[in-house]
Amino acid sequence: MRMVDLILKKRNGGELNEEEIRFIIEGFTNETIPDYQMSALSMAIYFNGMTEKETAALTMEMVKSGDVIDLSNIQGKKVDKHSTGGVGDKISLIVAPLVASIGIPVAKMSGRGLGHTGGTIDKLESFPGFNVELTEEQFTKQVNDIKMSIIGQTGNLTPADKRLYALRDVTATVDSIPLIASSIMSKKIAAGADSIVLDVKTGSGAFMKSFDDAKALAEEMVAIGKNVGRQTVAVITDMDQPLGFEIGNANEVKEAIEVLSGKDVNDLKTIALTIAGHMAVLGEFYPTFDEAYADLEKRMADGHALEVFRQFVAAQGGDASLVDDLSKLPQAKYETTFVAKQAGYVESIIADEVGVAAMLLGAGRATKDDQLDFAAGITLEKKVGDKVEAGDVIAVLRSNKEDMTSALERMDHAYTIGATEPEARPLVHAVIQ
Ligand code: URA
Repeated sequence: MRMVDLILKKRNGGELNEEEIRFIIEGFTNETIPDYQMSALSMAIYFNGMTEKETAALTMEMVKSGDVIDLSNIQGKKVDKHSTGGVGDKISLIVAPLVASIGIPVAKMSGRGLGHTGGTIDKLESFPGFNVELTEEQFTKQVNDIKMSIIGQTGNLTPADKRLYALRDVTATVDSIPLIASSIMSKKIAAGADSIVLDVKTGSGAFMKSFDDAKALAEEMVAIGKNVGRQTVAVITDMDQPLGFEIGNANEVKEAIEVLSGKDVNDLKTIALTIAGHMAVLGEFYPTFDEAYADLEKRMADGHALEVFRQFVAAQGGDASLVDDLSKLPQAKYETTFVAKQAGYVESIIADEVGVAAMLLGAGRATKDDQLDFAAGITLEKKVGDKVEAGDVIAVLRSNKEDMTSALERMDHAYTIGATEPEARPLVHAVIQ
């Protein structure tokens, strides 16, 4: 087989078979296929797409390129969740203890944040002493004991995806639906889950800005799941403004704990219950989603999920007393307010811009090696649809850096205040299963 013939086949709109895709991914991983040929193939895929069969084969070959986490020593059906990322997205911190509290094991690997979106692992490190690097034995034991663990990625998972993603990034081939879908699904499958719930975001703060693109990505990932024997449900949720009121690491931990303590933060609660509901159905705890949603809503604030969260923090070396005394979370030295220049309604909030403002305060990384300021973040006082008077506080910015001018400029760009009360967008746009 020659790579040039396979590029030609794809360029001319043909379908690659499993053997050909194996040849490509094995060759690319062991570096017998050079980057320039893989770039040409990626561009051919970008223009001609891939069939369901091709996308499934590509996903599984990327899984096979590295380690696959063995969760077979964990009792019960393992259901994972994945979010395509957004601003203020602390859903995992709510959903994981909630689902674990009914006995479904949550053995989760999460990532760090880069750019305007945060990462769950970074947020958890707001607890002094929290350890995100457990051995496989510690990880398995903890999930069997308390039903929940969240750690950083271990082992050499999907090296083919890592190389391909880096190449796509510099060859204008990132935004190809089959390439994104296979990239995300290969990592979830290698992480060992039996079933997967995907939270595909749409709106100004999302990777997929339009609903149609989000739906196409969701459908493609659900199809991969079906073709490779992993039950997959995708929920398309709104990311047209930040989720909840808190952005930043300690800020988001605090808000997640508040929701688990019964605070009614509408968007967080609705989306968390939707994701948790589908996880609980896939985990075979409830027969239907409606029953799952209704029962989990009652359980959310009855203290059980919060108790699992306490045990989880303590088990991974963090100071669990912070769960009951949020003032002990990292606190910033400086604080400033962003105020309304005019009266009116908050018509829109560009979520990305709020994410960048939080990053500039120290809550996120502009480059991989940046150090985080766990206390840095933004508390929103006003969200889309709220009425404001000139001089009202719209948001409070906190940081250990005294100069917050550039973050304030970003906030100014993020918020549009106008005369018209905007129509509310749905929080859950669609469910694909
Ligand atoms: N996230 C991924 O993991 N892969 C992509 O290709 C795009 C976003």
